Amino acid sequence: MLSGIQPTGSLHIGNYLGALRNWVREQDRYENYFCIVDLHALTVPQDPEVLRAKTLEVAALYLASGLDPARCEIFLQSHVAAHTQLGWIMECLTPMGWLERMTQFKARSQAQGRERVGTGLFTYPALMAADILLYDADLVPVGDDQRQHIEYSRDVAQRMNSMYGEGTVHVPAPLIRDAGARVMGLDDPTVKMSKSIGAARPAHAIFMLDPPDVIRRKVSRAQTDAEPAVRPPVGAGVANLLDMYAALNDLSRDSAVEHFSSKPYSVLKSETADVLIGALEPIQTRYAELRADEAGLRRVLGESASRARVVAAATLERVQHAVGLL
Ligand code: TYM
Repeated sequence: MLSGIQPTGSLHIGNYLGALRNWVREQDRYENYFCIVDLHALTVPQDPEVLRAKTLEVAALYLASGLDPARCEIFLQSHVAAHTQLGWIMECLTPMGWLERMTQFKARSQAQGRERVGTGLFTYPALMAADILLYDADLVPVGDDQRQHIEYSRDVAQRMNSMYGEGTVHVPAPLIRDAGARVMGLDDPTVKMSKSIGAARPAHAIFMLDPPDVIRRKVSRAQTDAEPAVRPPVGAGVANLLDMYAALNDLSRDSAVEHFSSKPYSVLKSETADVLIGALEPIQTRYAELRADEAGLRRVLGESASRARVVAAATLERVQHAVGLL
């Protein structure tokens, strides 16, 4: 199992429910590689000091959420040079048309203009495919927004195998759990919750490190609709709160609807805030301890990177040989 998060901002409840929590839950079943994809963060401009601080923050949040360094490799993408080396080979195998169809690239390049966005934003999926293929990953646990990138990783892996021989690389599959796979913005439930919007609009996201009173305030202001109470069919804002409540309590959406049936939105909001605080408070306490021990964090990252390098080097050598590098 392999997955990763970009250290481009503060992690939010979408990152937790869509990705991190599932990694923790499944870590006993697989051999695990969890990367902090700092090279991907460079596809948009970053303040160097902030990037370093956010990288350590994400590492501490991985551990605070319950990833166990005895069972998972937890490392930085930039510490294993094979990622960029294999990334180049994947770029060479990828038709430009495939990358032009990526919805994330289309959205970003339309917003900022093709003349202005970096080339790395365009070739980003090829580096992501390299992340996955280097460890012969079977499964890639992610939120729904990464589905297209993983489909591309499968396509490019199959292309490599058909050009250079079956078994050159292992074809991965996405692992997307229904619950929490698509958490929407609190201030606008038509867009997915995102780190970048959250940094610009305080009412958009619940961050994993938000204190309880902030969580309560944000949830109480979440956009709903003019209905007086929870009654199907529910609008997008109410559905988003119900989904968060259901995911955090391991319930189906239907059971959550039944629980709140005909109750006013104030009850839905206060109980959703309760479960969010209940889930995040213990993580925040562990986070504070882990983040205070920076040497300990760096040790985990360093030891994992050493082991990851060995696995990655073997795959890279296999691919280099297959494509004809001496
Ligand atoms: P990133 O950093 O945008 O997001 C990290 C993880 O959080 C999930 N996620 C969400 N899930 C539910 N609701 C949301 N609103 C939400 N927002 C984000 C994402 O689906 C993801 O699982 N390209 C990746 C990083 C990456 C990667 C990889 C992932 C690079 N290499 C290799 C897997 C394997 C990204 O930008 O994730």
